[in-house]
Amino acid sequence: MRLTRYFLPVLKENPAEAQIVSHRYMLRAGMIKQQAAGIYSWLPLGFKVLKRIEQIVHEEQVRAGHIPLLMPTLQPADLWRESGRYDDYGQEMLRIKDRHEREMLYGPTNEEMITDIFRSHVNSYKDLPLTLYHIQWKFRDEMRPRFGVMRGREFLMKDGYNFDLTKEDALHAYNRHMVSYLRTYERMGLTAIPMRAASGPIGGDNTHEFLVLASTGESEVFYDAQVPDLKLGAREVDFDNRAEVAAICQEFTTLYARTDETHDEAVFNQIPEDRRKVGRGIEVGQIFYFGTKYSESMGATVVTADGSRVPVEMGSHGIGVSRLLGAIIEASHDDKGIIWPEGVTPFHAGIVNLKQGDAGTDAACEGLYKALKAKGLDPLYDDRDERAGAKFATMDLIGLPWRVTVGPRGLANGVVELTCRRTGVSEEMSAEAAVERLAGIYADW
Ligand SMILES: Nc1ncnc2c1ncn2[C@@H]1O[C@H](COP(=O)(O)OP(=O)(O)OP(=O)(O)O)[C@@H](O)[C@H]1O
Ligand SMILES: [Mg+2]
Repeated sequence: MRLTRYFLPVLKENPAEAQIVSHRYMLRAGMIKQQAAGIYSWLPLGFKVLKRIEQIVHEEQVRAGHIPLLMPTLQPADLWRESGRYDDYGQEMLRIKDRHEREMLYGPTNEEMITDIFRSHVNSYKDLPLTLYHIQWKFRDEMRPRFGVMRGREFLMKDGYNFDLTKEDALHAYNRHMVSYLRTYERMGLTAIPMRAASGPIGGDNTHEFLVLASTGESEVFYDAQVPDLKLGAREVDFDNRAEVAAICQEFTTLYARTDETHDEAVFNQIPEDRRKVGRGIEVGQIFYFGTKYSESMGATVVTADGSRVPVEMGSHGIGVSRLLGAIIEASHDDKGIIWPEGVTPFHAGIVNLKQGDAGTDAACEGLYKALKAKGLDPLYDDRDERAGAKFATMDLIGLPWRVTVGPRGLANGVVELTCRRTGVSEEMSAEAAVERLAGIYADW
């Protein structure tokens, strides 16, 4: 993309309404525009990151053996009457009537609808296990929408639902989700810690939340200092191997890590004092095992091998896809702007032309742009007729992890400059070497 042809409405001033850094930078970098409280348009740069996050979530769900589908945003109220949640959900649910006075709602989550799909089509234990998920917009009429996309009213969520014959099978599905989530967040450059949680309106006792440590997080968290060092890394995981998956969950949940809702001072105090950490965290996901709560009330049963009929064992598992943009920025920025991890960056590298209109530099930039694209990379070329300082400021604000700077002086020596946004370290090299280096960096992502 060439910046002169792109739509990047960068703001010079700090927007007064933004209280935290991610909200401020998302507005300033022209990623989102608020349309109503907690409701946003995703401008091209924000939309690009959103799609990259979505893609990672999809890939990791499919890797774990889960199957994508798509359910609608609008749901009939009657489904929710069956589970009893139509009345229980309260004011967070946006209720709508259609022209025939039929009661509808904008889905805050999809347990009822997926259970309805299941009961309509699945009848036998032979069709289990089954895990279905979608990535779809949700609406929750939050009392205090704030912090930009972190607590919106309309937000994008991945929600997945497992259907199993036995509790052991359902707990394996729970563990599979935990491990797939660990990899999902790591690919986004995040450390998200699974913490034992309280269940709320979804129901069930077995539940973990995933929290990204950040001083602006809404949850208070208590954890062992060794927990953030745990990494899944590039381990090959066989998601059908129960013992292997369970062992990874064990590894990540044995040390103390809890939110204020489940915190137990007595247990916490058994950790050596210098390892006891108290901080704040952003909830970027949650997994639940809730057994037969919905299958019983909604009649989702299967015939077993001995011919009897039993309600299916279920769980649900959510990732806050749109909230993740905010969480990543909270975890990765400096006073000049965002620093995107390579896994989610909207463009792989920026090209800054120091002397726009100079035939030599223009041609070198064009050549670099084409060479990067030929490697399958997606560069953003700042081809505006602007001062170098303004171009650098834009690149720093929008946070591309790598920048290639091209100017007449360097070209006279046969070099361009490759700069790492995170470290600020610049290196001179030939344009060809810069292309190779970037291709190598992104080969790992
Ligand atoms: N209002 C919101 N705006 C953006 N993302 C949200 C919002 N509510 C929930 N999410 C995201 O969706 C994920 C799954 O939804 P879940 O039902 O667990 O949310 P929740 O526990 O009600 O969230 P919270 O406690 O933050 O209100 C959450 O972990 C979070 O990342
Ligand atoms: Mg939650």
